[in-house]
Amino acid sequence: MSSSSDAPPGFHAEPEAVARVILGRRTIHQFRPEVPPLDDVMAALDAARWAPNHHHTEPWRFRLAGPKTIEKIIALNTQVVTRKKGPEAARQKLLRWSTIPGWVIATCRVSEDPQRQEEDYAACCCAVHNLALVLWSRGIGLKWSTGGVTRDPAFAETAGFHPEEERVVGLLWYGYPEKIPAQQRKPLADVLTVLP
Ligand SMILES: Cc1cc2nc3c(=O)[nH]c(=O)nc-3n(C[C@H](O)[C@H](O)[C@H](O)COP(=O)(O)O)c2cc1C
Repeated sequence: MSSSSDAPPGFHAEPEAVARVILGRRTIHQFRPEVPPLDDVMAALDAARWAPNHHHTEPWRFRLAGPKTIEKIIALNTQVVTRKKGPEAARQKLLRWSTIPGWVIATCRVSEDPQRQEEDYAACCCAVHNLALVLWSRGIGLKWSTGGVTRDPAFAETAGFHPEEERVVGLLWYGYPEKIPAQQRKPLADVLTVLP
């Protein structure tokens, strides 16, 4: 591996290790019951805030949900699913959601300027992916969800923020993977145009 004395610390990472984390990461839908150590989660949250952000707005906000908040979100989701799909579907969801080990709510600060808003949301998405990759490098999987509960008008209050000030980027579930799903991507040639 090449190195340069004037490179900033951490500039050179093992390319194979970086590729393994990026290419190997998958959205995890089934978790083992153990709650990952807080140190790992804090390291991932700390890395999240190093995402690029135009005008240095640092628009991301993260909330690490404790048991009471998790319970309130699950209760709200039960109402949402009951309305849409009926009580049996809601009961199934409640059972499944009650087994999810770790919960983070990621939001983006609201801006009145539409361009700023778009760029801030993009920055928040980069931050969430930083978080996902650092967790993955530590053996912890994540699911980024924007399901119905996150769009319910009561979600903001349940998750502890004001909807005029912040909007949801994702409800992020984390834990050790029970199963790592397979995924496909189109070949690079399908999505790349080399311009003259
Ligand atoms: C903005 C955003 C929202 C997402 N919301 C959901 C969701 O609500 N439910 C879900 O199952 N997956 C959700 N995902 C995860 C995608 O389904 C997943 O990334 C995709 O299937 C590709 O799989 P991979 O992450 O394993 O490569 C979301 C991903 C992004 C970027």
